[in-house]
Amino acid sequence: MRTPIIAGNWKMNKTIEETKAFLNQVKDFSVEGVEAVLCVPYTDLAIAKELVGDYIKIGSQNIHWAESGAFTGEISPLMLKELGVQYAIIGHSERREMFGETDETVNKRVHAAFKHGITPIVCVGEKIEEREAGKTKEVVKEQTEKAIQGLTSEQVKQIVIAYEPIWAIGTGKSSTAEDANEVIGFIRQVIADQYDQQVANEVRIQYGGSVKPENIGAFMRQPEIDGALVGGASLDPTSFKALVEGGKQS
Ligand code: 13P
Repeated sequence: MRTPIIAGNWKMNKTIEETKAFLNQVKDFSVEGVEAVLCVPYTDLAIAKELVGDYIKIGSQNIHWAESGAFTGEISPLMLKELGVQYAIIGHSERREMFGETDETVNKRVHAAFKHGITPIVCVGEKIEEREAGKTKEVVKEQTEKAIQGLTSEQVKQIVIAYEPIWAIGTGKSSTAEDANEVIGFIRQVIADQYDQQVANEVRIQYGGSVKPENIGAFMRQPEIDGALVGGASLDPTSFKALVEGGKQS
């Protein structure tokens, strides 16, 4: 049985004061049988870790492969580890599109995360032109295979993959639950082909892209979908709690 995982990706939102106000409203909250994660800006990690309570886990939105060095603007796995960060989003489409992230750098970051005991949430997903050209599966296959290259079976079992069709991010246009289920089932098959079915059956694969409290149930009822990576709707504490509650429906 895969434990559902609902993760909020705050992107570049919330100051420390805003983070404190949010956490005050969720620190005593928990939902049995659902894992909840908040991936906050770097500047909010320390206060989030201090105030979050025992249930919600804290994640970063990136992680560098080197432990230290001349990498202006990057964040080291050691720095994240010291703050108690448990998850790191890797290869989000915004980083791929705007900041030159590639499948190769994604793979290096994934290896570094595992080396330091941080669980990667690896994002894959197609652009609208790729979808319209019928290339969705080809694109997610390549991204998935390259992201997990060189990992042990044990590591692959722990990884979280987020299927986020780029055209569905922040647009209010989510994929249909059936469509997302089909692509996610395909990603699981790609992992089975590279490792084996038993490994693939343990990997948690989320859907992301305009997920809200109103539509999370439809996604979670799909057999292949193990959770959601949520941007905009994770910024409000009431909405975030409703999303995590929605994770129970799988
Ligand atoms: P939205 O939920 O705002 O569409 O963002 C999705 C996303 O990119 C999460 O990583």
